[in-house]
Amino acid sequence: MMKFDSNFLWGASTSAYQVEGAWDEGGKEPSVQDIRPPFPGTTDFKVASDHYHNIKEDVKLFKELGLKAYRFSIAWTRIMPYGKVNEEGIKYYDALINELIKNQIEPIPTVFHFDLPEHLHKNGGWNNRATIKAFIEYCEVLFNHFGDRITYWQTINEQNMLVFAGKVLDGEEKTWKEVFQANHHMLVAQAEAMGLYHRGAYAGKIGPAPNIACVYPKTEKPEDMLAAEYMSSFRNWLFLDAAVYGVYNHKAMRILKALNAVPDITEDDKKVMKENTADFIAFNYYNSMTVSASNGESEKKAKDQQSGFSIEGFFQSEKNEHLKTTKFANWPIDPIGLRVTANQIYDRYRLPMIITENGLGQEDILTDDGMVHDDYRIDYLKAHIEQLGLAINDGVELFGYCPWSAIDLISTHEGFKKRYGFVYVNRTDFDLKDLKRYKKDSFYWYHNVIDNNGLK
Ligand code: BG6
Repeated sequence: MMKFDSNFLWGASTSAYQVEGAWDEGGKEPSVQDIRPPFPGTTDFKVASDHYHNIKEDVKLFKELGLKAYRFSIAWTRIMPYGKVNEEGIKYYDALINELIKNQIEPIPTVFHFDLPEHLHKNGGWNNRATIKAFIEYCEVLFNHFGDRITYWQTINEQNMLVFAGKVLDGEEKTWKEVFQANHHMLVAQAEAMGLYHRGAYAGKIGPAPNIACVYPKTEKPEDMLAAEYMSSFRNWLFLDAAVYGVYNHKAMRILKALNAVPDITEDDKKVMKENTADFIAFNYYNSMTVSASNGESEKKAKDQQSGFSIEGFFQSEKNEHLKTTKFANWPIDPIGLRVTANQIYDRYRLPMIITENGLGQEDILTDDGMVHDDYRIDYLKAHIEQLGLAINDGVELFGYCPWSAIDLISTHEGFKKRYGFVYVNRTDFDLKDLKRYKKDSFYWYHNVIDNNGLK
């Protein structure tokens, strides 16, 4: 099996609201995740995995796991509660970043991962242009305070999923017109943030972190191929073309026109987007999509981040009979799709790339002797790492892999029982128990992969 480059960043991921807890400590403002009602049968985000109070212990485990990188998100609500700089929040991330560096783990922060501050949300959230300014002020604080220690900044996690699965991710049901106006403001905010970073001449790089999935045509019919192209433009390239080329994808624009959802775009916005673009691409990959030509079936909205959706007149989501699916939510499992996706992105953009999420959510069982036999997770990750190696052999410039998740945390909408971590956290949705950490079988397995710099 191939060895990876000696600088390859074997990592793992989390996000602030899903792992930290301490929802009202350290001067933090509530975010949209704290104020929305939890999904039936699932916990809220108040305690999560209590990472906030366990940085040292958790980073020690990450070090033992062998991580070369830790991809996490910074809570806007800790750094700028109610729009004012909060020293306690800065101190918290200083401590986390310094602890990582002390342990030779590259900190890879995401600026915004689904947790908009409550006061901005109440003022219209991303639909209000004023949120762009608030975002830039927040980014300026981040770059000034942490810029000396960060090599890779990611702007917005899965902006495309906020668009297509927003109801699940921040509890908002909006019209297409509203969704794409909010999306446009995020694109401009992202471009302005990248510009700010570049003008500051910091030593690192900055880029977006969308969820990218290759799209297969259901059959060899040309109409199905065209449908796949349309979905890919709408779901994937709209977001990356904006971040990398500073323009709207033409086929995505065609769909926006049909949906009566073309946002208001000023000449200034166009200029900002064109002049400020990404240095690298971070992307999350969980599964592929399959579509056929629309047969007039009406629109179907995405149930969640990884499920398909249909747009009348353009494409219709289909089941892929060749792929097995996950137990939770029936997401297709498609390791080869990762190789296809990485190649497609590289073909279009020729930028260095890092995979910032990929993983399997499952109910794990802690045995009486403190073990978790998660061979299903090992199988999933192994198959994806194999394809990642093949993508690199194809010539794709991939410099890191950060599976979801470093440690158990709360799923976006399926609670604590849907676990992804290498480290088990002893709690359930409604019983906090002792929150003790246990190493799963996948922990020892991933440790060996990192140690060996590839699969054996
Ligand atoms: C990604 C998100 O969409 O998928 C994460 O960036 C999320 O925040 C992950 O947790 C897995 O999805 P879920 O819904 O199982 O938590």
